[in-house]
Amino acid sequence: MDILNDTRKDIFIIYELMVGIMKTSQLLKKIEDKIPLELALDNDTVGFMGSEEILDKDIKKVLVLMDYIPQEQLNKLKNENLIKYDDFDLVILHHPPLFLENQINKLTRDISAKNSYHPPVYVIHSNWDILKGGACDALADILGVNINQVLDPQTGIGRIGKLKNGSVYLDDFVEDVLHNLSLNQLRMVNTENTLINNVAVVSGFGLNPSLIKMAHDKGADLYLSGDLTHPGAMLAKNLGISLIDASHHATELPGLYRLGELISQIGLDVQVFDSKIPWKTCYL
Ligand SMILES: [Fe+2]
Repeated sequence: MDILNDTRKDIFIIYELMVGIMKTSQLLKKIEDKIPLELALDNDTVGFMGSEEILDKDIKKVLVLMDYIPQEQLNKLKNENLIKYDDFDLVILHHPPLFLENQINKLTRDISAKNSYHPPVYVIHSNWDILKGGACDALADILGVNINQVLDPQTGIGRIGKLKNGSVYLDDFVEDVLHNLSLNQLRMVNTENTLINNVAVVSGFGLNPSLIKMAHDKGADLYLSGDLTHPGAMLAKNLGISLIDASHHATELPGLYRLGELISQIGLDVQVFDSKIPWKTCYL
């Protein structure tokens, strides 16, 4: 009798693997084997958000987003393919949802009481930025940086290395950045067209004074990241290091697509959706 039950169980597991279904808990275990929660910075919010009963539900389709956007706002985005949360069994976010944690917890609790309304949410944030092969490496790779060290060894954030194709003039590097990150604008500090070779990168929020100082002290000719502020720009100007602010969003997109690939390799149907930057630039 036990042998029969075991055989049925095995057949069912093989069937699930063939059609790309697994329990939510199984998927999260597989994700955490590849992207450990323990890598995350202290005080960062990472991991599963939702009620435990959802962990036992089957999962087939996964949506990967940089930021949480309520369905009503998603509906207003002009895209060929409208994203509907209830078409998915799990939403993976890169950024922890700001001020919306309670709302998401409520929505995910509702899923068991009503028909499917909102899939559970799982956040992969600084653990993905820090992981070898994660967001910072994806950014370095797309920019042609041959990584030789971590920018901040204490946290594991950032990468630094030489350009794969050797030294280039700053103007040419900027052109490559615009092209490779699909940008039509970026901000710079210290724009003299000198040769650069040592490049530091951080995906997302990297242009703060502490990391700018670190990049300078480690011999970077140029430091590229996002979220430049006035103090950071002043510091870089005085230190003489060139900065490129290629935006938080654009510096994290290569990693977001890489994250989608990694999860689809686990065997599920994964869609990565670019929710774009949450503002517009106005000109006179
Ligand atoms: Fe970020």
